[in-house]
Amino acid sequence: MKVAVLGAAGGIGQALALLLKLQLPAGTELSLYDIAPITPGVAADVSHIPTAVKVKGFSGEDPSPALEGADVVLISAGVARKPGMDRADLFNINAGIVRSLIEKVAAVCPKACVGIITNPVNTTVAIAAEVLKKAGVYDKRKLFGVTTLDVLRSETFVAELKNLNVSRTTVPVIGGHSGVTILPLLSQVPYTEFTTEEIAPLTKRIQNAGTEVVEAKAGGGSATLSMAQAAARFARSLIKGLKGETVVECTYVEGDGKYARFFAQPVHLGKEGVEEILPIGLLSEFEQNALEAMLPTLRADIELGEKFITG
Ligand code: NAD
Ligand code: LMR
Repeated sequence: MKVAVLGAAGGIGQALALLLKLQLPAGTELSLYDIAPITPGVAADVSHIPTAVKVKGFSGEDPSPALEGADVVLISAGVARKPGMDRADLFNINAGIVRSLIEKVAAVCPKACVGIITNPVNTTVAIAAEVLKKAGVYDKRKLFGVTTLDVLRSETFVAELKNLNVSRTTVPVIGGHSGVTILPLLSQVPYTEFTTEEIAPLTKRIQNAGTEVVEAKAGGGSATLSMAQAAARFARSLIKGLKGETVVECTYVEGDGKYARFFAQPVHLGKEGVEEILPIGLLSEFEQNALEAMLPTLRADIELGEKFITG
């Protein structure tokens, strides 16, 4: 297996490089690319850690050498939020970055599974899909918006509130990755129940957790370390699936379009990427209302991405 990280010199990228060097299965190749000239140095740095993962670093304008033979491509290239900004405010810069990187993916490793971290994820995944489609290589089983951080946060906050063992706490998170489109299904958390007074503020805290970090970093960027752990978990699950194991993760994929063209929900990962999109299950009345309320925003975010490519 070969995993490529695009944006590898950034806050997420460097932490992700470290975690992948430590956590990827023995024999995996790790390819680090960023426009920043420091990238070969980041690769040299992590390559000294004694694990059986080979690391190479690439910088400059063309990601192609980093992408050759890649099975998994994780993209965190782009700008991050500052206080007062929404994820949507990143569109103007990040849309073009994702478009040009995906054009290279389409040309060099069209069969790779691609995980998009770059915000606004609701929109950048749609951009990626349209670029791949235009190049004639789109396979909806292989394109993912990485929403694992919403799951990590939900697991952490729920375990804290209910005094549960966090390593055994699971929370499905559906929808998208911004504000009201992030919907944790608290009614489906095993072994616990929430009072009506707990549900609304806990849901809001999960939806606003990214902003909580942006404000705490006070202009220094957004979540990087927790995001790197989330992306590393997602990459490990993806690779397990590609190797034939049964793994389920919530991720933002193109499904049957019942709610929106792209929608985050539990997905069975397998040898070709998405093996099966699993049902979202029974929702509480609170969750059903929240789902209906998010759809206009999510659909508009997706349309913005589609139109960016199709005009
Ligand atoms: P950062 O500024 O620290 O790093 C971004 C990196 O991208 C930089 O090293 C920069 O040189 C590189 N870059 C810019 N243009 C590039 C290009 N064309 N090719 C290759 N590399 C390029 O930012 P960060 O904190 O690492 O965040 C990156 C992105 O991830 C942001 O858009 C942020 O909003 C997003 N993010 C998403 C989630 C999520 O849950 N999906 C969580 C946190 C952050
Ligand atoms: C997050 O959820 O932390 C990321 O999407 C970054 C952000 O801008 O909030």
